[in-house]
Amino acid sequence: MTENNNKIPFNEDNYTHNINRNNERKLDRRGFMKTLVGAAGVFAISSLPWGATAAKELMGLGDKEYPHKKITDLKSIGVGDAVDFAFPGEHDSAILIRLSDEKFVAYQNACTHLRCPVFWDKKEEEMICPCHHGKFDVQTGSPIAGPPRRPLPEIQVKVDKGAVYAVRVKRYET
Ligand code: FES
Repeated sequence: MTENNNKIPFNEDNYTHNINRNNERKLDRRGFMKTLVGAAGVFAISSLPWGATAAKELMGLGDKEYPHKKITDLKSIGVGDAVDFAFPGEHDSAILIRLSDEKFVAYQNACTHLRCPVFWDKKEEEMICPCHHGKFDVQTGSPIAGPPRRPLPEIQVKVDKGAVYAVRVKRYET
C-alpha cells in the first residue's frame, strides 16, 4: 500500500516530467532547426552571384556597366591595328586593339604612372608609354616595364552586327 502510494505519484511525476522534457526537447529541436534554416538562408543569400555583385558594387569594387558605346565598324579596324576612343566619359581616353579576327582588347590608356597616353606600337606589338618608357602587356593591361605599377583599367567590348562596342570598365582586383 505504502509502496503503491509511493509508486503512483512517483510515476505520475515521472510521466509529467517526461512530457515536459519531451516538449522541451521538441522546442529545442524546433529552435535549433529555425536557427539552422536562418543560417542557411543568410549563407544562401550571401553566396548568390547577384548578392556578391551587389556587395561589390556597393563597395565600389565591382565592374561597372555603362550605356554601350560604338567604338568602330569591324571593317574599319584590321588585325594588328588600334583605334582611339573615349569611355565612359568623353575625357576618359581609351584604346581598342584588334589582336586577331575575333579577339579585341581595350583599355583606358592614361598611363598609371603619371597619366601620359599609352599607345600601341604595331610593329613591336607593345603598348608603350612614351613619357618614361613604361610598357604594358597587351593581353592583360599589366605593367611589364618602366615605372608603372598598376594595370591599365580594362574595358570590356562586344562585337554586334558588324561593329565593336564598349560595354563596361573592369575594376582593379584588390
Ligand atoms: S607616365 Fe607613363 S611611364 Fe611615366
